[in-house]
Amino acid sequence: MTHPDGELVLRVMTMPRDTNHSGTVFGGVIMSYIDQAAYVHARTLGLHRWVTVMVERIEFVAPVYVGELVTLRATTLMTGRSSVTIRILVDAERYSTGKHVRVTESIIKMVALGADHKPIAFTSPATLSSDDVERRT
Ligand SMILES: CC(C)(COP(=O)(O)OP(=O)(O)OC[C@H]1O[C@@H](n2cnc3c(N)ncnc32)[C@H](O)[C@@H]1OP(=O)(O)O)[C@@H](O)C(=O)NCCC(=O)NCCS
Repeated sequence: MTHPDGELVLRVMTMPRDTNHSGTVFGGVIMSYIDQAAYVHARTLGLHRWVTVMVERIEFVAPVYVGELVTLRATTLMTGRSSVTIRILVDAERYSTGKHVRVTESIIKMVALGADHKPIAFTSPATLSSDDVERRT
């Protein structure tokens, strides 16, 4: 059954290197997780290169502390030809109580690129090949 908050796409543990001097996690670290989560979700919709074109909204609702498990869930809100608008909901599991708390909400738009690195209908057959990986190694 689908989770009401969306598909589970990422779970990470926050580390001391992620925090500011007060012990809370930098917003930029959470933003990076959101970007990765949006990619993971987009990839399930088409095997293409995906790039972030716009972050429509990001709201830091509550702080995240070091050592907490952070869960990111994704839902497709809207689709275009090459683009997909995705909602990412971020929860933290409080270290000492195990309570799940909503910490961040975001809406982010991803665009599928074809082999020529131009926008492509994301419903197109896969445009990735193992050659792409070999070229990068
Ligand atoms: C994403 C990118 C390829 C779009 O290029 P473009 O020339 O505007 O392409 P198009 O006009 O064909 O638009 C492609 C899609 O992006 C959407 N789009 C483009 N610019 C947008 C913007 N500023 N805001 C929201 N959507 C936008 C279009 O609506 C279109 O969606 P659709 O195909 O579903 O209708 C280009 O802007 C780019 O390369 N941006 C940098 C991406 C990047 O490096 N991201 C950060 C790291 S992943």
